[in-house]
Amino acid sequence: MVKICCIGAGYVGGPTMAVIALKCPKIEVVVVDIFEPRIIAWNSDQLPIYEPGLDDVVKQCRGKNLFFSKDVEKHVAEADIVFVSVNTPTKTQGLGAGKAADLTYWESAARMIADVSKSDKIVVEKSTVPVKTAEAIEKILTHNSKGINFQILSNPEFLAEGTAIQDLFKPDRVLIGGRETPEGQKAIQALKDVYAHWVPAERIICTNLWSAELSKLAANAFLAQRISSVNAMSALCEATGADVSQVSHAIGKDTRIGPKFLNASVGFGGSCFQKDILNLVYICECNGLAEVANYWKQVVQVNEYQKTRFVNRVVSSMFNTVSGKKIAILGFAFKKDTGDTRETPAIGVCQGLLGDKAILSIYDPQVPQEQIQRDLSMHKSELDKPPHLRPVSPIAIEQVTCVRDAYEATKGSHGICVLTEWDEFKTLDYQKIYNDMQKPAFVFDGRNVMDVDKLRQIGFIVYSIGKPLDAWLKDMPAVA
Ligand SMILES: NC(=O)c1ccc[n+]([C@@H]2O[C@H](COP(=O)([O-])OP(=O)(O)OC[C@H]3O[C@@H](n4cnc5c(N)ncnc54)[C@H](O)[C@@H]3O)[C@@H](O)[C@H]2O)c1
Repeated sequence: MVKICCIGAGYVGGPTMAVIALKCPKIEVVVVDIFEPRIIAWNSDQLPIYEPGLDDVVKQCRGKNLFFSKDVEKHVAEADIVFVSVNTPTKTQGLGAGKAADLTYWESAARMIADVSKSDKIVVEKSTVPVKTAEAIEKILTHNSKGINFQILSNPEFLAEGTAIQDLFKPDRVLIGGRETPEGQKAIQALKDVYAHWVPAERIICTNLWSAELSKLAANAFLAQRISSVNAMSALCEATGADVSQVSHAIGKDTRIGPKFLNASVGFGGSCFQKDILNLVYICECNGLAEVANYWKQVVQVNEYQKTRFVNRVVSSMFNTVSGKKIAILGFAFKKDTGDTRETPAIGVCQGLLGDKAILSIYDPQVPQEQIQRDLSMHKSELDKPPHLRPVSPIAIEQVTCVRDAYEATKGSHGICVLTEWDEFKTLDYQKIYNDMQKPAFVFDGRNVMDVDKLRQIGFIVYSIGKPLDAWLKDMPAVA
């Protein structure tokens, strides 16, 4: 029986290994992590991450051929294939700070693999890493190998949180990069055989190591670039009276452009886009490509600008101050169907409003209160760290309360900011909400998911990103 061990039981390691176990009943899959509470949660009824369909997959194979364990070394030693799916956040100190990927967790995993291995292994990069990381890892492994043969593969993960299970069941493609030697090709084939249990052969792309590593960064940079491009258009739409949804629809019909990732919003978030673009910027700079680096930096800058623009709209609409005003925040996760808050635009927006002394009442169906308080009180550099390295008890922010229902959040408030596109926000009783709010009552739709006409009929003053402005907003001070 082939044995797989995955180091890192996070958003990628957990769902990916659960699907491999489900689709390959004859392979034993063990997911290991040094953060014990995560392993305990994976073995309980309350999984550590929310992802539609994940519960079902885990229930079907946990205890049969899928195991979660904190006994990292034992399972790595026993495995034929070791996936490494640990965090690779942006470096916060030293060379490349603010841009380069921090490979501390990756390096310590690699050293541990070398230490405990007693048999040949295929080591698979699942984490998103800078180009040429495989070479560095190879060096660590071979210099400490005690004669054991390691083959390194790059198998970047393209799943999107919120649709992870669907993405894993029917991936657009699986990418496997390896050395162009006979041993490298043999290792590629072994991993291909795993995916071939459910992925059609034409969707499994095999490349050299560097193409696989770079393709992952490039894919995220291109996706983030589309969002930033349409967000840049949204500012122009507001200035000219064009409607960004109409513009997106019109350009998305061009088959060369296509309709996906053209929704204007308060900005992109998630653990990957920003960090992967910054990583790309750093690689460009290291290779003397300053102009190319600047090009990608712009994508991140437009994203920051979009959040600031949103905060400015809220403040300027509400008589240029939100000091002492209750603002309801609906949604905190970076997108619907996930409880992940890493790099969520809600952090920037809430901090902006708190900077103007607003009082926030926050509701998100999947993000617990402690997480929201932690995100709002922690310094940005701490947010990307693995859970076991983050401060245990951040100081709660007084002006923030987290509630378990949208009606409670909005009651008595002056305005509502919709920051995540959760479906349940579309079907709330907005007449009731309006009746219970201060007047004039505002809705700031950061995801363009609200029925604006209906809200205006009720009496709300509504701001939607990139849409023709409410007469009220037109008369308010200009937004930066
Ligand atoms: N989240 C996504 O949507 C996504 C998608 C594609 C790729 N990726 C990439 O996949 C990688 C993992 O991302 P994630 O979102 O799953 O991160 P995560 O923080 O959810 O999980 C990483 C886990 O690795 C564990 N870990 C760290 N060092 C370890 C060690 N030495 N031994 C054992 N466990 C260790 C941490 O405790 C943590 O639980 C990153 O490189 C990320 O860029 C993420």
